[in-house]
Amino acid sequence: MLANVSNPYRNYIAGVSTKVPVKDGSWTTYINFDNAATTPPFISVVNKIVDFSQWYSSIHRGTGYKSKISSEIYDNSRKAVLDFVGGTCGKDCVIYVKNTTEAINKLSNMFKEIYKTGVILSTFMEHHSNDLPWRNKFYVDYVNIDQNGKLDLEDLERKLKRYNGEVRLVAVTGASNVTGYKNPIYEIARLAHKYGSKIFVDGAQLIPHCPIDMKDHSSPEHIDFLAFSAHKMYAPFGIGVLIGHSSIFGKCPPDYKGGGTIDIVTPDYVKWAELPDKEEAGTPNVMGVAALLESINMLSSIGMEFIDRYEKGLVNYAYNRLSKFADIELYDFHKWPDDRVSIIPFNIKGLHHSQTARILSDEGGIGVRNGCFCAQPYIQKLLKISDEEMEERIKGNVKNPPGFVRFSFGLYNTYEEIDKVVKLLSKIVKNKEHYTKEYPLDY
Ligand code: ALA
Repeated sequence: MLANVSNPYRNYIAGVSTKVPVKDGSWTTYINFDNAATTPPFISVVNKIVDFSQWYSSIHRGTGYKSKISSEIYDNSRKAVLDFVGGTCGKDCVIYVKNTTEAINKLSNMFKEIYKTGVILSTFMEHHSNDLPWRNKFYVDYVNIDQNGKLDLEDLERKLKRYNGEVRLVAVTGASNVTGYKNPIYEIARLAHKYGSKIFVDGAQLIPHCPIDMKDHSSPEHIDFLAFSAHKMYAPFGIGVLIGHSSIFGKCPPDYKGGGTIDIVTPDYVKWAELPDKEEAGTPNVMGVAALLESINMLSSIGMEFIDRYEKGLVNYAYNRLSKFADIELYDFHKWPDDRVSIIPFNIKGLHHSQTARILSDEGGIGVRNGCFCAQPYIQKLLKISDEEMEERIKGNVKNPPGFVRFSFGLYNTYEEIDKVVKLLSKIVKNKEHYTKEYPLDY
């Protein structure tokens, strides 16, 4: 796609014309380059919420007409979710949760109940949410990354061999929220299965950007478990998804216990409900599910292949423009043009990432995220921060947290927005001294 061709899908998104105040006293149209954190809603999702509110009622609990409608929407939604990610009806179970973090905590609790001991292989490029929930339950080891920040598959195989059948799960991100690197999930699945493990893919940064297929259960490339969040899919109404083998999810008592999770209760006896009810304690978030369904409809009608191609175009265009500036540090790991989602981490030499992010917001109405992106071990490796320095940081002797500024694009961002941001970056780079004084570090 050429620069300056505007994006028709922009009209599908709420808030793209919102103006925000900037430092010179004027107001400017907000540019949101922080879609990896959360996306604005599709307008149709907001409309769906409003329309559905006429019919909203308690599900699985009431007998009224509205309750029946609400329950039907909720129950039928699981097939649409499975179809969207190539899950298998009858074998895979869709469990609704709040978000990916909750999904992984739930999965880790279930694994603890079922397997008790063993090894979880996480990786050094994970979001904390695909690391910390495993730590206090299993022995956790981390697959290394190579000098480009990519997962080292040889290290993965070495570790799978070393643990000799003890690895219960390879828990890996589909795409990094820091570098945007997409992991070769099918190759990883093959390796995991070869050594008797299962694979979990954290799909938070993958599902909104490209097609995914969990593949048939008989395939060595089958993805056993998958999680993702609707708030990164233009449907921010508090719903997330955990998908996996019903036969495994069915083996343990509910993670949360209470309303909806039981079949029979006496003062001294409990018979748990069947899946998925057993894992969805309390009144389910049917509004969130209605939002997710509409988002799946929208993403499917735009086409995930198209979204993938369009966003890759944005990344390449932005990367090429940024690489013209000697003062913009794009890091070595950008030099390997691998398959990636629409994320660019960078820094302006001589400015702390927090300063750059503040300047972009205050001067240009540009929303980005900066810092470590809930992936500190990965940042430590990418920036080659020594263990000694980390010790000093832990003691509080070193301030100024390390990290990057991150651009993350969505399907509605445009080449024109990139041009505007690059224009401001060019001004910042030329007037670094001025901006350093205007935006002193607050550490
Ligand atoms: N994990 C989200 C991010 O990367 C919140 O910003």
